[in-house]
Amino acid sequence: MSAAGPFLFALQSELGGSIPFERFMEEALYNPAFGYYSTQIRSVGRHGDFSTMATLDHSLARRIATWIQKENIRDVIEIGAGSGQLAHSILNSLGWWKRQGIRYHIVEISQPLQEVQKKLMQGRRVTWHESLPSALEQVRGTAHIFSNELVDAFPCRVFELADEGWQELHVRIAGGRIEEILKPAALPDSTIFKYDFAKGQRIEVHESYSRWLEMWAPYWKAGAMLTIDYGDTMPALHHRRRLGSVRGYAGHQRLTGQDIYQAPGRCDLTADVNFSDLEKWGLTLGWRTLTHSTLDKFIGTGLDARFQAASSAFRAILQYPNKAS
Ligand SMILES: C[S@@+](CC[C@H](N)C(=O)[O-])C[C@H]1O[C@@H](n2cnc3c(N)ncnc32)[C@H](O)[C@@H]1O
Repeated sequence: MSAAGPFLFALQSELGGSIPFERFMEEALYNPAFGYYSTQIRSVGRHGDFSTMATLDHSLARRIATWIQKENIRDVIEIGAGSGQLAHSILNSLGWWKRQGIRYHIVEISQPLQEVQKKLMQGRRVTWHESLPSALEQVRGTAHIFSNELVDAFPCRVFELADEGWQELHVRIAGGRIEEILKPAALPDSTIFKYDFAKGQRIEVHESYSRWLEMWAPYWKAGAMLTIDYGDTMPALHHRRRLGSVRGYAGHQRLTGQDIYQAPGRCDLTADVNFSDLEKWGLTLGWRTLTHSTLDKFIGTGLDARFQAASSAFRAILQYPNKAS
């Protein structure tokens, strides 16, 4: 089970015999010694394990550049910039004159990806930050913030509807392999639980993302935030997806079932994003939703016909803090 085995075995004993899936995903992606984003990832796109909309087509970059240009705000913060290709295309799309008026910031958790970004952005005026609060402090709370395919990279809690009601998915190492078990748990704040599902349904909640929003929201005073990711609103998100949406990617192959547990830290793990939750959690923080649509509608006429179908599986939500100008 790769280098992660002894760590996960010790963690399981410490936690009383099993590891909640969310914690497993956090370690598999971000553990400093073996996590995928901390140690394994080389890039995003053709030279990495998976591609994103941003690495396949420039229309998203052009649309974000138009959004930035329309607003009278100097500081733009991108969170989770991957290969840096989106940032690079956005800055190119802005053109020389507009670029002079923009201060571009990147918040990137992955050291290997920060290096890839710095190489690509040589000669561009970009500032890297370790965390969003430190970026927001530098811009005195006023910035446009955006991310593409960031939320899906946050660890998610997984629940299954059993005879006893919703139970949380845990993993347990036994006989050198990882097996899944269900345990009772208090339910998180999510739009999911007010809907009826058939027994056996699995769902995911990106609760760690909502905790992350709560952590930095007090530092954000003005601007707007654009969040793009794959997923849907409720109840469409789980339509005909009884097994949920957790999956892995390695070498551009999609991994499901037991395959996602074979080599923790050696593949990406992800799950579709519930945009009804993003809207709800924003409201709780006192934010307003300005627009919310599928990505093809957000991009509009600039979208290459080849990506029309793919981008309708993505959504874009634009929120701003109530105190915004
Ligand atoms: C799936 S990749 C998307 C990359 C890029 N936005 C794109 O569209 O190609 C997720 C990105 O988010 C970064 N990331 C994940 N959690 C983060 C966090 N808490 N703060 C900053 N970056 C984070 C990852 O290192 C990676 O760059």
